[in-house]
Amino acid sequence: MKKNLIAGNWKMYKTPSESISFVSSLIKNLKNYDDRDVLICPPFTSLFPVSQIIKDSYVKLGAQNVYFENEGAYTGEISPLMLKDVGVEYVICGHSERRNIFKETDEVINKKVKKVAEIGMKPILCVGEKLEERENGETFEVVENQIKKCLEGFKDIEKLVIAYEPVWAIGTGKTALPEQAEEVHVFIRELISKLYNFEIAENLIILYGGSVKPENIDSLMREKNIDGVLVGGACLKIESFLRIIDYQKI
Ligand code: 13P
Repeated sequence: MKKNLIAGNWKMYKTPSESISFVSSLIKNLKNYDDRDVLICPPFTSLFPVSQIIKDSYVKLGAQNVYFENEGAYTGEISPLMLKDVGVEYVICGHSERRNIFKETDEVINKKVKKVAEIGMKPILCVGEKLEERENGETFEVVENQIKKCLEGFKDIEKLVIAYEPVWAIGTGKTALPEQAEEVHVFIRELISKLYNFEIAENLIILYGGSVKPENIDSLMREKNIDGVLVGGACLKIESFLRIIDYQKI
């Protein structure tokens, strides 16, 4: 049975020592679930110490970015082999902050997605429209374009996770309504079914991200095609992340 995935993207928050105390206390307070996985994506400098703390728990480790070569003269970049070696299982690829602030293109994201899977980790491909695009009725077109370009020639589809993160909902406090998110998730699943096949699409985990909070998690997770969430701000405090992990479907 496919499990839901509750993922926390820490972005550029928490030093290694802050990460250690945060994760130690998270683990102490975490309940056991058989229908959901928990993933945390700390900054690079915290990956190793965090990996040591979570190794006997069911919490999984993710990275927020990666370069698409194994090694070389790429000053300042991080190789997928380095991530794999510290126990990273998931890598966020093409987050809107990477696209917008660091000008990452679909072509570059495509190389990252392929590389992450080739090395044996799971890419979390982020897609989503800007406010203006939504207002112009271009949401589906934008999402379709991003997915097609970022997945061009990608065969390792069982490893893929897709995160729908409307840019207008990220860090703004404006969450997509559950039915707005569901509509795009259905669209994404149908697109994957066309590009690959029905079974692959049914098994695909599609996360929603954008101002997910304790107050809206239950209604989001009630939607049939929302298989989990990618949380930013609200995953940085223990109580709110624990409440999000502990979502109730009814
Ligand atoms: P917020 O939850 O802070 O809106 O961030 C969402 C996000 O970008 C997760 O990757």
